[in-house]
Amino acid sequence: MRLNITVLPGDGVGPEVTREAVRVLRTVLDLYGYDASFEEHAIGGVAIRQFGQPLPESTASACSQSRAVLLGAVGGPEFDSLPPAQRPEAGLLGLRQALGGFANLRPAIAYNAIADCSPLRPEVIKGADVLIVRELLGGIYFGEPRGFNSGSSPDAYNTLRYSVAEIERVARVAFRQAQLRKHKLTSVDKANVLETSQLWRQTVTRVGREYPDVKLDHMYVDSCAMRLISDPRSFDVIVTENLFGDILSDEAAVISGSLGMLASATIGGKVDLYEPVHGSAPDIAGRGIANPLGAIASAAMLLRHSAGLEQCAQDIEDAIREVLDKGHRTAELTRGRAKRPVSSTAEMGALVESAVADVTDRRRAYHAV
Ligand code: IPM
Ligand code: MN
Repeated sequence: MRLNITVLPGDGVGPEVTREAVRVLRTVLDLYGYDASFEEHAIGGVAIRQFGQPLPESTASACSQSRAVLLGAVGGPEFDSLPPAQRPEAGLLGLRQALGGFANLRPAIAYNAIADCSPLRPEVIKGADVLIVRELLGGIYFGEPRGFNSGSSPDAYNTLRYSVAEIERVARVAFRQAQLRKHKLTSVDKANVLETSQLWRQTVTRVGREYPDVKLDHMYVDSCAMRLISDPRSFDVIVTENLFGDILSDEAAVISGSLGMLASATIGGKVDLYEPVHGSAPDIAGRGIANPLGAIASAAMLLRHSAGLEQCAQDIEDAIREVLDKGHRTAELTRGRAKRPVSSTAEMGALVESAVADVTDRRRAYHAV
């Protein structure tokens, strides 16, 4: 099997973290004897500088011809004054549309070893493991009409719109994920105010009849925002619309202790897309201190969802846990209380790489006896 992967390092810390994710991918695939190729292309701010647009045609076509896409991050302060359609973020949104992935899986896991990194009390987060399934191609991100009328008294508007088909397809992904986990799904909306949310709730309820083994409940987004941090263990899978999912998934990062830990997979389209949840982090870009674990965990998701390599994915996930258990930390995980030398981005990547080799070796030795 040959896996051809398009790598889009993007802006800010994107290139730093994707480099480590690719390193770990190469190693694990090599250990299992799989062949892979990695081809880099420009997206976001680097693409604007190089090609004058955030999603060059060459990038889009390379992505659509690959098995999977691994992306770093896009965006930067120098583009702040540009209208949305010309910003680096438009490259990512355009790519999501071009690839067609509508379901964005964002797991937030409380790792015991770094429980002290969370501002939440250890007894609140211990064992928490939430999967947010965010609708990614609809809602207010893409609704038309949209616009900004400048002038003496400017106004601006966006459209929030959902069709039954858009809701059904993401709901099915969420129910299936719940079946693989604890069989519990919370659908999050604002049905006390929004018509789109009423349609969302009706549709998810109807789709739910196809999954009698999954316990479905509904929650308003404001209430969910509170519950996510007051009692994260009460959730298994959450399904919600694009904007709510964007916000709730950043909030869920406090369960893990750092946005740098969070991975994501965008599935359901022609080619699936994997990216850490964090952004380009311009404040720390170029310093080699960003946490690559979210990008590395995204690479694990790539192997699981786009290559069917569940064991390789688990080896990477076990290796991440092991490295944290041994006390290794990137800077943001120490919250200024480093007990031992802080690992750089590259050191963290190398630690996971060698832990993957150990994990694989140990499992092989175990199966050999
Ligand atoms: C994310 C990001 C993106 C989004 C931006 C960069 C367009 O915040 O992946 O969560 O809003 O979807
Ligand atoms: Mn976001």
